Amino acid sequence: MEDADDAWISFYEKSWASRALLFDKILNEEKNLHRALRLFEAAASGNKADEGNELSSVTDDAIDSLMKRVHSISFGKEIVLSKYHNFSMSLMLADFSKNRDCIIELGSGYGKQLFDIYLNGGPSEARYIAAEPTTSGRDMCNRLSKLEPAMNIASVPFDFNNPDFSHISEFSNILMFTSWSAMFVQPFPFSFFESISSIEGAVTCVFCEPIGFQIQPENTDLQSLVRRVVSEQKFNTDFFSKLIAAQKSCLIDVDLIISDICGSLDDAGTIGSVIVARNMH
Ligand SMILES: C[S@@+](CC[C@H](N)C(=O)[O-])C[C@H]1O[C@@H](n2cnc3c(N)ncnc32)[C@H](O)[C@@H]1O
Repeated sequence: MEDADDAWISFYEKSWASRALLFDKILNEEKNLHRALRLFEAAASGNKADEGNELSSVTDDAIDSLMKRVHSISFGKEIVLSKYHNFSMSLMLADFSKNRDCIIELGSGYGKQLFDIYLNGGPSEARYIAAEPTTSGRDMCNRLSKLEPAMNIASVPFDFNNPDFSHISEFSNILMFTSWSAMFVQPFPFSFFESISSIEGAVTCVFCEPIGFQIQPENTDLQSLVRRVVSEQKFNTDFFSKLIAAQKSCLIDVDLIISDICGSLDDAGTIGSVIVARNMH
């Protein structure tokens, strides 16, 4: 029988393959990376690619979109926002990417975050690495990268359960991040932090994951809601305890923990926390 992690990888193998069909249509007409990414997101939102179905284009009515009230979370507090008022993960990561020679995303899908970091002013000379277990995600990343030949990006196979960091051994100042990917690994392997500690260069890690209920285990309405969704979906429940254990073992040094900084109550899986840590040798 497939274990839970493999099941998520199979799920995303199909999911990125379905989304590639939509990208095919967009890339027939569009050669600008930024425009292709935004057109894709607009068309993909509201579609479910869960079963590997082909996606069709969906265009929200502009008036409906403008009227929409999104029940959001900001720094753990409930707040109603316009749908146009988004937390920008890529702008935050672009700030963290200054002066780095390598930027690597673990569980990168088709590389959306990396492309957006670059387009949002990430370093032009840095090596960008999209580390992703699915071939469909890596293939799509390779296709999109052709639209921006000046960007030095490559996609490589990656699994949190068996991390291979040989691709980054030549770099000295690395930004490593996750964006809603470690959440699919349960239990989270402590050995991942040992691998980070063994990387020779300086590594700053930014983990963006829906783990507020792990950081603040109180039974507030928010944490109960997230815990219920996490349990239904079999998402990760022990990332934070493994991270703290890694800090106690002097493998990493945690600089900052911000619980529930962003997300929507309509989809509790989107409620994300950010943890910044550095590797220790
Ligand atoms: C919700 S998507 C996020 C994609 C990307 N990080 C982003 O923000 O656009 C989750 C990603 O995690 C990846 N993933 C699932 N299990 C994984 C594992 N064991 N190791 C590495 N990545 C994994 C999936 O293949 C998928 O690309």
